Amino acid sequence: MMLGNGYASSPASRRRRGRPRGGGGSGYGFWQPQSLHHHQQQEISPVVPPCTEFDMAYFRAYSHIGVHEEMLKDRVRTETYRAAIMRYQHLISDKVVLDVGCGTGILAIFCAFAGARRVYAVDASEIAVQASEVVKENNLSDKVTVLLGRVEDVSIDEKVDVIVSEWMGYILLYESMLPSIIFARDKWLKPGGLILPSHASLYMAPVTHADRYRESIDFWRDVYGINMSAMLPLAKQCAFEEPCIETISGENVLTWPILVKEVDCYTVTIQELESVTAKFSFSSMLRGTCRTSSKFP
Ligand SMILES: C[S@@+](CC[C@H](N)C(=O)[O-])C[C@H]1O[C@@H](n2cnc3c(N)ncnc32)[C@H](O)[C@@H]1O
Repeated sequence: MMLGNGYASSPASRRRRGRPRGGGGSGYGFWQPQSLHHHQQQEISPVVPPCTEFDMAYFRAYSHIGVHEEMLKDRVRTETYRAAIMRYQHLISDKVVLDVGCGTGILAIFCAFAGARRVYAVDASEIAVQASEVVKENNLSDKVTVLLGRVEDVSIDEKVDVIVSEWMGYILLYESMLPSIIFARDKWLKPGGLILPSHASLYMAPVTHADRYRESIDFWRDVYGINMSAMLPLAKQCAFEEPCIETISGENVLTWPILVKEVDCYTVTIQELESVTAKFSFSSMLRGTCRTSSKFP
């Protein structure tokens, strides 16, 4: 399953937060179902990153229903996953699946419908409690085991044949959930196992947005008849300081997009994600103002 630049359907209010890794903090208490027997891993496991205060706030944010409702109502997103799961049904049927960040359990349930023998649905947010109820109500408790905890911390009884996850954030990597997929892959995926999605591509293109520029910058030129142009440097600094998440139309896009980063989920490493650089040159197809920010999250 390839997710490319056609996937930008997420509404603006979704996933406002990035989740930087590292720093202090730990002691995150997790409820885990009694049905699981915990055992020590015999082999070398990836190092478990600390769960920071920031991570905990991030997981708390995912306990609100709104973000899940928005994701589920995003039909392009959800149906693309369902289609991919059904397309790879032959590799899922009778197999063991790990859903990393199961949320309401939707992908885990799709996998159960595709014939998975067992699905471990893991989420560190309290939404896992609801996911467990959803699983029960759909009579799937014998197949889907919901675990409340970070995928880095939970223990499951067996290696898995398939990992499924919706980890992509703004500008693909902003949510920083990919390291958790890498962790799960290195710890739990059997050699030759399947990862959905397997690849992702990040594209970049300059855009022009005259309306927004007028609203937030030109506004200061005449405020109730007062010349507030002195505010312009600050307005520009503030406008370009932070990444802006907006839905725009094709008319705003000045050039063909260029490929900035390709992620192969089978081989990507955490080191590879520490910095993403790309050389590029654009030649605009339209006339329009384009401002650049030197900072990306
Ligand atoms: C984008 S949501 C996807 C939810 C669901 N899979 C869906 O498609 O609707 C990502 C979920 O992953 C969870 N998550 C992120 N990092 C995690 C981690 N390291 N361990 C467990 N859950 C995690 C979040 O709490 C959130 O519920």
